Amino acid sequence: MTNTITIHNKKFKKFISSHKIQNAIEKIAERINKNFKNEKPVFLSVLNGSFLFTADLLKKMKIECEISFIKISPYSGTQSTGIVNTLIGISEDLKGRTVVILEDIVDSGNTLEKIISELQKHNPKKIKVATLLFKPDAYKKKIEIDYIGINMPNNFLVGYGLDYDGSGRNLSDIYILK
Ligand code: IMP
Ligand code: MG
Repeated sequence: MTNTITIHNKKFKKFISSHKIQNAIEKIAERINKNFKNEKPVFLSVLNGSFLFTADLLKKMKIECEISFIKISPYSGTQSTGIVNTLIGISEDLKGRTVVILEDIVDSGNTLEKIISELQKHNPKKIKVATLLFKPDAYKKKIEIDYIGINMPNNFLVGYGLDYDGSGRNLSDIYILK
């Protein structure tokens, strides 16, 4: 059955089709194109998980923009450890810039909170957040998320950038743990 896959020792079921993912990205792109017409934003893509979302979203950008990549400590296994390490990769001057963080998924919000507190040290004009996936039942923070692609249940997911112990990022669809 092509709707079920096994990664390491776990079985996952197809949950969100690539078509639905692309539609959600198109909607985010339309809103960003409208909202940032006059202010060359710098997109900060959070590696590793956001690489496909970033590529697909950026191809739909009609405004002038810049893209850069940042990275925080990886998440291991299927449970968030709650431990988030330092942010690496900020090389440009963000002072006075409009920054748009690009996330694959916001779960507890720990990662997002850490990223925002680090970015604030660079004195940007404003920080906006776009995430392809959001788990409302897992989210513990007050930070407003400006652009959300698809709300998800509080279950472990793989595919379209998301991994299970390093595997599954290449899948075009999103799968849920059975
Ligand atoms: P948070 O800090 O709990 O919000 O988790 C954020 C990060 O954990 C995401 O950027 C992902 O890299 C990873 N993550 C959260 N949920 C999942 C999931 O269901 N599958 C794979 N990775 C996840
Ligand atoms: Mg991530």
